[in-house]
Formats: sequence, structure tokens, C-alpha cells
Amino acid sequence: MDEAHGPHFHFHPDLPSSALRAGADLVVQSTHKILGSLTQTAMLHMQGNRVERQRISQALQLVQSTSPNYLLLASLDLARRQMALGGEGIMTEVMALAWRARSQLQAQSGLEILTPEQSQPAAGFVSLDPTRITLFTAALRGDGFQIDQRLMADFGVAAELVTLEHLTFLISLGNTEQDIQRLVAAVRQLRSSAHTPLQPEIIPDKMAAFAQPYSTPELLPREAYWSAQEVVPWQRAGHRISAEWVCPYPPGIPAFIPGERIQPSDLDLLLQIHRLGGKIMGCADVDLRTLKVVRD
Ligand SMILES: Cc1ncc(COP(=O)(O)O)c(C=O)c1O
Repeated sequence: MDEAHGPHFHFHPDLPSSALRAGADLVVQSTHKILGSLTQTAMLHMQGNRVERQRISQALQLVQSTSPNYLLLASLDLARRQMALGGEGIMTEVMALAWRARSQLQAQSGLEILTPEQSQPAAGFVSLDPTRITLFTAALRGDGFQIDQRLMADFGVAAELVTLEHLTFLISLGNTEQDIQRLVAAVRQLRSSAHTPLQPEIIPDKMAAFAQPYSTPELLPREAYWSAQEVVPWQRAGHRISAEWVCPYPPGIPAFIPGERIQPSDLDLLLQIHRLGGKIMGCADVDLRTLKVVRD
């Protein structure tokens, strides 16, 4: 189970249920993203006996160094200790900060924030983490990428997740009241400053096109990865079999992976996302001039 963004769930009853509490056998958490450990540190939690510990240990041998970095390990241990001893109090304070930010943003007329009530009925939603604030950018007269750039350049405010229509802010134990005030003031200023309304070029529904069921791959990813390949101009890659992963972020789901036949409409959509400021990952040329395909 991927619980990258949920290492704090366990520590407060008002947070969503943790994956372990929900019965997961194996859970990986990005401790560095949410709690106090250094970047590149994560935890793998196990419970029960459905997964053989010996196999996990064997698999880890394939990727682990025999010379672990003790600075990283010590930081994980300190983050663990901090939460084990004071986690509930810490998360109470973090949630209070987040609720203050949420209510002050909601008080600005016309601003829309994702609420638990809105999210619950939607398919796939179980609950909303109150330490995340998702702001719809329409009222700020720009798409998410444009607003994100302005927030960073003019106010030093960084969103955790940027999409065409939303920004999600992450409030964590590293934040203070000043950060909240800076966020609220920045949004207020963006709202009051006159900008030419910007029309997103992509019809948002189209973004969901990548989430549609994929075509059956023509080759296994392994076969495509090891096959003879060539680099072709992006415009000529349509209908060819991809030898690369091409993954727009967000949402971080590949548009195609090695072995899949490339749809020309996907190439156009990726170009649009790139032009608007979205990041394309996984492929060698992230500026989308060329693409590696399987040689015919
Ligand atoms: C859902 C999800 N899983 C996994 C990861 C990767 O985590 P890490 O940076 O700890 O490797 C991310 C990174 O953003 C993520 O969003």
C-alpha cells in the first residue's frame, strides 16, 4: 500500500484512518514528506503473516546498500521518537493551523476550497485529510500552473500539488502561524489584483483522458525496453510503439509506457500540458522534442 502522504494519520483520531489500521499488510510511507526526517527517508511497515518476511528481506537486498547512511537513519529514528512521544499534540496544533487557514481563505468571497462534504460523495473518496487545503483557482483568474508561479515568485508560497484547476497546500509540523498569514495574504492580493482572465487551453475533462483504460500493450514493457530503438521527432511518434515512459505530473500516471502504441491525440495533449507549465517525467527528452520508440 502506498501511503506516501499519510505517515501522520496514525497519530490523531481526527485524521483519516491509517492504512495499517485499515488492515494493509505492507505499507510504505514517505516519512520525509510529512514528518521531520531528512529527504530520501521512508518507512516500510509490515503486519500480519500474509506476506513472507523472508521474501521482503530478499527483495530489499537487491536495492539496499551494505553501507547505510546513518545520518538518514538517525533522522528517521528522531522523527519516529518525536511522533511516538508527542504525535497527538503536534497533530492537534497542525490541524488547528490548517483549519484557521481554511476558514480565512473561505471568508474571502468567491474563493472555493474543497470541503469534506464535497469530497465524500465522489467515487473513490473515503475521507479528506484536514491538513491539506485544495483551492480552486478559477476565482484567481488563472490556471493552477500560472497561479503557482505567481505565488512562488511574488510571495514565496509553495503549493504541494498543482493541477490545471487546483492548488493543494500542505500544512505540516514545519509550518507556523506566519506561514498561514502569508498564504492568506498572498491569495487575497492575487484575488484583488487585476489580471486579464486567462482561459485554460485544455478542456479539463480531457485531462481525464489519460485515466481511461489503456490499450492492450503490443509488447511487454521488458521487451520494448530491450528492443532495438530509435529517437524520432515528437510529431512523428504517433502510431509507433513507445520505448519510454511518458508521465505528466500531476497526476503522475503515465500516458504511455514501453510497449504501448502511441495515440497522436496523447502527444498533442502532452504538448499542451507542457506548454501550460505541467511537468513531463520519465522520458529522456522532457522538453518533448523527441521520443524514443521501438524500431519497426
Ligand atoms: C503517491 C506517491 N507515492 C510515492 C511517491 C514517491 O515518494 P518518495 O519521494 O518518498 O520516493 C510520491 C511522491 O510524490 C507520491 O506522491
